[in-house]
Amino acid sequence: MALIALGVSGGIGAYKAVEVARGLQKRGHDVAAVLTSNACRFVGPLTFEAITRRPVITDQFAPGLNADIEHIALASSAAVLVVAPATANVIGKFANGIADDFLSSLYLATRAPVLLAPSMNTNMLEHGAVQANLAVLATRGVRFVEPGEGFLACGWQGKGRLAEPDAIVDAVERLLQPDRSWQGRAIVVTAGPTYEDLDPVRFIGNRSSGRMGFAIAAEAARRGASVTLIAGPTSLEPPVVGDLVRVRTAADMHAAVMARSREADVVIMAAAVADYAPARREAHKVEKQQAPLTVTLERTPDILAELGAERAARGGALPLLVGFAAETRDLLERAKAKRARKRVDLIVANDVSQPGAGFEVDTNIVTIVGPDGEEAQPKQAKAEVARVLLDRIDRMLAGLTRQP
Ligand code: CTP
Repeated sequence: MALIALGVSGGIGAYKAVEVARGLQKRGHDVAAVLTSNACRFVGPLTFEAITRRPVITDQFAPGLNADIEHIALASSAAVLVVAPATANVIGKFANGIADDFLSSLYLATRAPVLLAPSMNTNMLEHGAVQANLAVLATRGVRFVEPGEGFLACGWQGKGRLAEPDAIVDAVERLLQPDRSWQGRAIVVTAGPTYEDLDPVRFIGNRSSGRMGFAIAAEAARRGASVTLIAGPTSLEPPVVGDLVRVRTAADMHAAVMARSREADVVIMAAAVADYAPARREAHKVEKQQAPLTVTLERTPDILAELGAERAARGGALPLLVGFAAETRDLLERAKAKRARKRVDLIVANDVSQPGAGFEVDTNIVTIVGPDGEEAQPKQAKAEVARVLLDRIDRMLAGLTRQP
């Protein structure tokens, strides 16, 4: 039994929050309801008060509230903060650290796990601003209960309907029993692009955003693994992990990975490492000239192939090695060939020319190629791809032991 802070913001799904409160109580939890002022326009605080048998918090500055220790203590006493429905407004406030009412202040003040059940009109949900805010919150460890599809109150049909109360209650229960199944495992994950400098202002880079590697690192940390995240230059905020190493070039990444992989149980190379780098970095900015400019590029070390060769030379089974293959044609043949050539266990292949896959999007469409065949996955959130991949790795690790 735990104390759950239930935030309710002003969406038409607010009435379903009553069912969430009841569902949590049925599982033996105490519920402290926090309604935003807009939520109070959709559903009465009295309803929550009657159901939760606790005072309902509706105002940060109500007279008498500051003397109420229970309210003040909610940030530290709540085991989970769940917000259902979470409107675009509340999501925006949480993502940007705006604390202008009790709920948004509670979000900043609490160290409890946070679960949001977004609900809004489809176009709002798909808007770049909302998607960016959701992505920021995900990298900070906030969990989500995905909205469902169907008829929306605004008359539209599409994604954005508040998840069913039972699904929200189940998700709260899962947060209360955190998964520690990877405790004791050391994982190295690389993410993002590398930048290869031509001169002090120019570089050769690629479109990798780091999202896929960040999602894997976040999921491994959630399962209790000790995570080293080696990230190339990206503007996304990385998840909270045990050890974050920032690198710029393929050479930096090579050094960082080789130094940290010896003791690792798993190395996942999700980074888009440059295969070539300028043979020399000019000390001063290169000036334009009439003649064409020729730049000589040299091969960078193939980190994954080196890890595969080292492991084969040792004759060990660990670290388990996972590579990514971003392809635009002959996906499976190329991924299988890459797996054999680099001597790794799994290759996560994706056709980056398909919409909803590859760079700069929150979803991916992957096929996991392993020793016992391939597993094609549907288009899904990168967080979900991370879960599927870690489950697959988990099954492989179960059969392996570390060589002395
Ligand atoms: N990789 C690496 N070091 C490099 C280049 C790539 O470790 N210098 C890793 C990537 O992180 C990824 C995998 O290798 O996990 C696949 O990289 P990719 O560049 O697609 O493979 P290549 O063998 O270079 O194949 P291609 O000929 O298609 O470029």
